[in-house]
Amino acid sequence: MKLPKIPYLIAIDGPAGSGKGTIAKLISKKLSLNYLDSGAIYRVIAFSAIINNIPSDQVLKLTSLVGSINMKFEGEDVLLNNKVITDKIRTPEVSKFSSEIAVHSKLRDEILNLQRSFYRGNGLVAEGRDMTTVVFVNADLKVYLDASPHKRANRRYKQLILKGNNVNIQELTCEIKARDKRDTERKASPLKIADEAKILNTDDLTIGQTVDKILTFIN
Ligand code: C5P
Repeated sequence: MKLPKIPYLIAIDGPAGSGKGTIAKLISKKLSLNYLDSGAIYRVIAFSAIINNIPSDQVLKLTSLVGSINMKFEGEDVLLNNKVITDKIRTPEVSKFSSEIAVHSKLRDEILNLQRSFYRGNGLVAEGRDMTTVVFVNADLKVYLDASPHKRANRRYKQLILKGNNVNIQELTCEIKARDKRDTERKASPLKIADEAKILNTDDLTIGQTVDKILTFIN
């Protein structure tokens, strides 16, 4: 498919488990665009803070931690100081901690340039909570992906079980609801629907159907 312009920028926001990660990755491959999983950046910082015993309310320590660590995204892999931590950042503990640290505007500002640096070459598909509203306000296409809490918890459950995690569906549903609340109610860059965003509920859509719908938005 031919893009209307190069570079092209697609920003996708939505709550946990809405399918943003899978969908954004597939679209980036189809269109030969870079891919930014902005949640992974919060997760690397959260993981690093946990192993360094930095509490989630210590914003100065957290921002200086960002300057002292080396995070890399290589294909499917996430590296912290050259060690692969891809699966370690997907645990419920890191999920919770990442949304706790994401409330700090100072920390969010600290990683703005890093996130924007992914927009290069042919362009980017960026996904997260504030891609459409803060980080890439001039995106060529803005999408808000949604799904019911029940569906989202089920998707996360399957992903985590496949990776060998021992999780409980009730606990996951509570964790997702608590994260939704923190992510939508915080003062700093809350998750919300951008005015120009195309809203897509993925409850009854397959991955392929969701990708196709987004590709039609480009046209
Ligand atoms: O997308 P993911 O679930 O991996 O993100 C983990 C957490 O990081 C979210 O719950 C949210 O609190 C935070 N986050 C954010 N802004 C983004 C991406 C993630 O606040 N752009």
